[in-house]
Amino acid sequence: MPPRRVLHDKFFKQAKADGYLARSAYKLAEINDRKRLLHKGSRALDLGCAPGAWLQVASEIVGPTGVVVGIDLKPVEHAIAPNVHTLVGDIYETPAESLLQHTGGHPFDAVLSDMAPNTTGHGDHFLSVRLCDRVLDLLESSAAAGAPLLKPGGSLAMKVFEGEAYPDLVKRTARLFTEAKGFKPKASRDVSREMYIVAFGWKG
Ligand SMILES: C[S@@+](CC[C@H](N)C(=O)[O-])C[C@H]1O[C@@H](n2cnc3c(N)ncnc32)[C@H](O)[C@@H]1O
Repeated sequence: MPPRRVLHDKFFKQAKADGYLARSAYKLAEINDRKRLLHKGSRALDLGCAPGAWLQVASEIVGPTGVVVGIDLKPVEHAIAPNVHTLVGDIYETPAESLLQHTGGHPFDAVLSDMAPNTTGHGDHFLSVRLCDRVLDLLESSAAAGAPLLKPGGSLAMKVFEGEAYPDLVKRTARLFTEAKGFKPKASRDVSREMYIVAFGWKG
């Protein structure tokens, strides 16, 4: 069993106090404070959105003139806000058009992915990289089909568990955007190998 201090760290307690559905809220809050992916009025896509903490944070940032669309294998069980729409689905089987249904077909300003495989300790890194590759595949194929998920110049933040394929993933991302770098928020546990690749300037 994990030690108590890991289960009930300061971000866990803070999330309870602030009404966030998970401690992960502070990861997106910090990513956005530092990197400014989302703004008032932004359209944001949140891949792997359950239980819904990133939806809460993104909804607060984009405000009532923005929109946040989330998808996850699991349903989001809490009503978040009127500007948030969620779908239940597997990102490997979901076409880009389904994700654009709540934006009237308009591309997103930012794509967020906090997706993670079920961790078993065996192959987690490669499964995580595969999820990220799927995100990049969706961005490329939707742009090639003329109904892009991400607007030209748009931004991306996606979680990956570091490992041997990480440098190639950063390189692939950097080819598709004008800038791509790894970022580790303070709310990400020190022992965790999770990183976020944050990229700006989608080349479309
Ligand atoms: C760390 S949780 C996300 C937490 C969320 N950002 C929040 O703040 O509440 C990772 C999520 O990725 C989802 N996920 C994993 N594989 C997926 C897939 N193939 N398609 C859609 N969602 C997936 C999981 O169901 C899980 O809910």
